[in-house]
Amino acid sequence: MAAPSLEAVVSLAKRRGFVFPSSEIYGGLNGVWDFGPLGVELLRNLKEAWWQAMTLREDIEGLDAAILMHPRVWEASGHVEQFSDPMVDNKVSKMRYRADTLIEEYIERLRARGRTEEAQRWEEQLRQAVEPHDYYRIIVEAQIPDPVSGTREWTEVRHFNLMFKTFFGPVEEDSSIVYLRPETAQGIYVNFLNVLQSSRQKIPFGIAQIGKAFRNEVTTKNFLFRTREFEQMEMQYFVKPGTEQEWFDYWLQERYRWYRALGIAEERLRVKPHQKLAHYAAAAVDIEFLFPFGWGELEGIHSRTDFDLRRHQQFSGKRLEYVDTVTRERYIPYVVETSAGATRSFLAILCNAYEEESIPTDRGSTEKRVVLRLHPALAPIKVAIFPLVNRDGMPELARRLYEQVRRRLRADYDDSGAIGRRYRRQDEIGTPFCVTIDGQTLHDETVTVRDRDTMEQVRIPMSRLVEYVWERVQLPV
Ligand code: GAP
Repeated sequence: MAAPSLEAVVSLAKRRGFVFPSSEIYGGLNGVWDFGPLGVELLRNLKEAWWQAMTLREDIEGLDAAILMHPRVWEASGHVEQFSDPMVDNKVSKMRYRADTLIEEYIERLRARGRTEEAQRWEEQLRQAVEPHDYYRIIVEAQIPDPVSGTREWTEVRHFNLMFKTFFGPVEEDSSIVYLRPETAQGIYVNFLNVLQSSRQKIPFGIAQIGKAFRNEVTTKNFLFRTREFEQMEMQYFVKPGTEQEWFDYWLQERYRWYRALGIAEERLRVKPHQKLAHYAAAAVDIEFLFPFGWGELEGIHSRTDFDLRRHQQFSGKRLEYVDTVTRERYIPYVVETSAGATRSFLAILCNAYEEESIPTDRGSTEKRVVLRLHPALAPIKVAIFPLVNRDGMPELARRLYEQVRRRLRADYDDSGAIGRRYRRQDEIGTPFCVTIDGQTLHDETVTVRDRDTMEQVRIPMSRLVEYVWERVQLPV
């Protein structure tokens, strides 16, 4: 299965109403995207698949915390001080880069040219870099040129905090600064006690949340991969200290299994330990997907110790402990986090599903078919209904069937153009089933159901259609 080009996926997404550039009539807004009629369905289905995988469990509760939070939250979490990227500008081209990415891309180029030893040397230095001057020294010593101007005239490397700031209330002064959350996780930590006290959970248990997050990324790229506004699906699992490794292994396996169950090919998934840990993590691995532009993180599994709860206890003055009702033991729980990007996973799902193939036509030639092989549970439209021809009562019957079906399933009705063209239109948006009302339907009330992937047709009674499709579009468990 060849990976599609990113351009092909972006073009389909725009053409068929999955994703549009934000504020496009004003020229767009860099790193911000809107989800169109089909995109919003696919994204909702994806989030629903995650929500069910989490909250149908006995040991996980859901939450929807506000995007705006008390500014002290971000001091306690370490984001005010440490959530930054090293940034460097080229003085000639005026281009701005993340210093670590600039170095990484240079190392990749060295590798591609067979200069492996040099690549390894700089890679080792990059791994050890912490402060801005560490990155600056590598850029200067390795004589890394600007990919745009080719010059080596760099500014000093500076830290750039990624949180968006805004003002709370009518006065624009420092004391009224609040942040748009850069991760949803903190909404879970500050509600840990509320959830514990209002549910009947005992440790180990988790809290799951889906919501928007915002990061003022230095550079955005690769369509939905790195954007400034995005959505996360995060779950914090609270465990007894000492058991975190076992839960870390468990959740890594569960999350990997989830992507596989949604149809992501095994050869396009891998697990990669973090080379550098975030300020809150004691251990971390990424589940990565092979995007058209290379491997990229889909989800991080992080062992966050008691870092966040302990800091919130310290900053808020509220005890955030758990009391074991049997042993009377008191402790601040450790946390294993599963942190996935909903919008980034959406891109992975699209790239994984996109295929171009050549199929035979009735006239003996071949034609190109673009097909989105989406898991039926994720497909925006589950079934499309067509009259074979626009006469003999077929459109009326097809329309009646459509009116019945659309109350139970996302359905489409199409009576324009040749039947082959109508199939192509549905294949391209991943509709798993196409139903045709033909001459025989008028006599025996049966319809043909064509399968998107095999293109095979079966004939079933019209009265069984909803049940037939329903059974086949359920979420994997
Ligand atoms: N709470 C931990 C956390 O936020 P992260 O690795 O920074 O960890 C988790 O982010 C996931 O969020 C990533 O694996 C990715 O899927 C998604 N994500 C992060 N930054 C993103 C961005 N700028 N655009 C799109 N998705 C992003």
